[in-house]
Amino acid sequence: MAARFLLSFWDGFSYPTRMVVVRLSSGGLFVWSPIALTPDVKVGIDALGPVRHLVSPNSIHHLFLGEWKTAYPDAKLYASPGLAKKRKDLHFDATLGDSPPAAWAADIDQVEMAGSAFLTEIVFFHRASRTAIFADLIENFRPGWFKGWKGWLARLDGIVMPNGGAPREWRLTFRKKVARARLARILAWEAEQVVMAHGEMTRHDGSAFIRKSFRWLARG
Ligand SMILES: [Fe+2]
Repeated sequence: MAARFLLSFWDGFSYPTRMVVVRLSSGGLFVWSPIALTPDVKVGIDALGPVRHLVSPNSIHHLFLGEWKTAYPDAKLYASPGLAKKRKDLHFDATLGDSPPAAWAADIDQVEMAGSAFLTEIVFFHRASRTAIFADLIENFRPGWFKGWKGWLARLDGIVMPNGGAPREWRLTFRKKVARARLARILAWEAEQVVMAHGEMTRHDGSAFIRKSFRWLARG
């Protein structure tokens, strides 16, 4: 319900979405939250290596999985918690949880940000570049990205720099004690960079940025 609300609330906003691609030490590609597979995107991807893993980080990031699976039938498809039930048209090889599967454990760690009854995100960490990867748990739009009343709403929702974070309506659904334990493991990565699906990346001192973005979790 909350997930549907999150989606419909922002309909009509310009809400650009970033995809992340990691080349694993095996040479295969880990494609996180794939965007529309245009001819240009496909050329770029094919130049990087063979697509092995198609990954949904949470159940509102799934729209293009089907077209990627059609284009790369040998790639494995990974559901975020709750997604397999929502996308019965797709066959998932596995549902992601609180530890990385063997397929990418050597390169990428992960934590299931549990504690919300409505939406559970898997957060990833690419060890070699010390990059933490967030979908919607941290949104970080530039001030001025949204204009007028939309900008006012976005600031109120807590998704605009320098006070970016999870949308406030989602924060309200968390059991904080559970989520805090998961956040502690994310902070223990000591990330240098933070990349997110929506908004500006952080290149340095990522751990401090993550801590600040989750200040809402420290209270109450
Ligand atoms: Fe999103």
